[in-house]
Amino acid sequence: MKKFNRTTVTSALPYANGPVHIGHLAGVYIPADIYVRYLRMKGEDVIFIGGSDEHGVPITIKAKNEGVTPQEVVDKYHNIIKKSFEEFGITFDVYSRTSNKIHHETASKFFQTLFNKGEFVVKTSAQLYDEVEKQFLADRYVTGTCPHCNNDKAYGDQCEKCGTSLNATDLINPRSALSGNVPIMKETKHWYLPLDKYEDWLRKWILEEHKEWKPNVYGQCKSWIDQGLQARAVTRDLDWGVKVPVEDAEGKVLYVWFDAPIGYISATKEWAENLNAANKAQHIDKTVDWETYWKKEDTRLIHFIGKDNIVFHCIIFPAMLHAEGSYILPDNVPANEFLNLEGDKISTSRNWAVWLHEYLIDFKDKQDVLRYVLTANAPETKDNDFTWKDFQTKNNSELVAILGNFVNRSLILTQKYFNGEVPTVTEITEIDRQTIADIAAFPEKIAASLELFKFREALSEVMNLARVGNKYLAESEPWKIFASNPDRVKTILNISLQICANLAVVMEPFLPFTSSTLKKMLQMDSNTWDVAGSIDLLKAGTKLNTDAMLFEKIEDEAITAQIERLNSTKEQNKMTETTITPAKADITYEDFAKLDIRTGTILAAERVPKTDKLLKLTVDTGIDKRTVVSGIAANYDPDKIIGQKVTILVNLQPKMLRGIQSQGMILMAENNQGELCFVHQEKDFENGALVK
Ligand code: MF3
Ligand code: ZN
Repeated sequence: MKKFNRTTVTSALPYANGPVHIGHLAGVYIPADIYVRYLRMKGEDVIFIGGSDEHGVPITIKAKNEGVTPQEVVDKYHNIIKKSFEEFGITFDVYSRTSNKIHHETASKFFQTLFNKGEFVVKTSAQLYDEVEKQFLADRYVTGTCPHCNNDKAYGDQCEKCGTSLNATDLINPRSALSGNVPIMKETKHWYLPLDKYEDWLRKWILEEHKEWKPNVYGQCKSWIDQGLQARAVTRDLDWGVKVPVEDAEGKVLYVWFDAPIGYISATKEWAENLNAANKAQHIDKTVDWETYWKKEDTRLIHFIGKDNIVFHCIIFPAMLHAEGSYILPDNVPANEFLNLEGDKISTSRNWAVWLHEYLIDFKDKQDVLRYVLTANAPETKDNDFTWKDFQTKNNSELVAILGNFVNRSLILTQKYFNGEVPTVTEITEIDRQTIADIAAFPEKIAASLELFKFREALSEVMNLARVGNKYLAESEPWKIFASNPDRVKTILNISLQICANLAVVMEPFLPFTSSTLKKMLQMDSNTWDVAGSIDLLKAGTKLNTDAMLFEKIEDEAITAQIERLNSTKEQNKMTETTITPAKADITYEDFAKLDIRTGTILAAERVPKTDKLLKLTVDTGIDKRTVVSGIAANYDPDKIIGQKVTILVNLQPKMLRGIQSQGMILMAENNQGELCFVHQEKDFENGALVK
């Protein structure tokens, strides 16, 4: 086991093209913050690095759509994001941004080092180019027909219908998403990182030496490596980003995924510069060196990210660091899965999200409620769902009913019987002994979970400590015995208050705002992890502040309002989803004339067993009566379409579908919601009339 003396914690740099939402918080920033707060409480040397990712094509497109500069876009969102993090108590040591000068210099130098070492391969290839916009098109900005499933709304990087990942050049009938123009192919030169060269090294480093990584992370790495790694272009033709610092690279910038992770390093430099300057100004004789946190073998590097970032942090960035040669590699990458919202994928463009800056308007001062719910429900091993009902339940029946209730009762009883002063322990009985032993066991249990990045489990142990408190009060019933035995009640309340104090300590990483309120109530100032587990945290005689409340019930109205807001978003999305598929490429009349389309009538219809979508139809085409398998079962009941007039393409090559030979295709119109309807004749023509 390696011995580490310090930890560098990074959290994915969010794109500065929109505000941050609960998915970001749950997946990355809350777990990272919990971890860092815990290490700080243990007195460890740790830095927590964050910042905004301000390059990449989507930012340039947003700028273009809004008629502003990319810098204006990132300035706006960087500030919103930074403020949200502050408000939710995410305690970065530095929150930087990749448009800063120090970052451009750092990323540029990193590229140059690899370039000078001959680590890149240069290749010229033909790429799609929009002549009107005078821009090469990133895969995502080309749409067209998927060569695998014929979906005509496939993106250049992926077909969302059949899930195949694509290259934009695979698409049939490609169109520029910027302008709708037909792109041309144009030669361009780029620098590639030959990942294939690092395959064996990566296999050993990850698959053999990091078997302890979370199964979801390890599994994804294994599947990437097993599929074989290929050289990746690390430059792009774009004018927004870090200029490629070598000759003959006019109009090219570093690929955003090359520069962004270097942003962690730039941010660390910025942190060190700022801290050294501040120390100097205050005549404090202490300096920090950024390199210690990135280059010393006894530094542990941990990346907190979401699952879509795994390949970049586990394969590409480590390969870059390895190629550079002077950096340490990540020791762990505890990536989370995704958080959904009310059953649907969170989406910025569809406004399907709970935005952090909006949450605090509706739930003022309730940061910890959200921190609690998102941690208790964290997508640690699989995707999870956030629902407002669950949010309410977790607040009302856990935070209020268990944690808040215990603290509240302890304080109120102390107020009532001892004028709000911590009483002295008199005599210890069996139940006290048992409770004291229970308390002593908690810090270690919680720490063990935290060290394995099991934040949900750790938080549930914090709640279990509150449960121990509730059980202790319920069983020792101080309210029943005060009249006959006030001395006994002194001991009971002392121990109860010590549990409150323990809670204030161990909840700090998770619920920092509540921890601070509770510490004020208990007049505590200590904030080290190691004091937890003891029952000497509060001195007898301490006068407590008993008037604050830790949590309050959330009423149905507040929850209904949120659900209604989401419902109206859904309605709006339905109405505005009028993205018409761009026109297909021109064809000649001869192309069209090849199609033999006729009027027909459905004579019989039945479901194709074990499918959701397919119906087996018998159609009178005027020429013959034939079988056609049609994907309309989601829209039409077999019984209801007998006698339906249809339009049918009769000379389509027969095809076997689920063991049935389908001869021809019924023409259907499809709207944006994927709903289908028949195309049929305005007059009741006989079957077999030609459509031309
Ligand atoms: N901006 C990226 C995202 O939101 C994350 C970048 S992480 C970094 O998916 F390592 F590149 F910084
Ligand atoms: Zn497809």
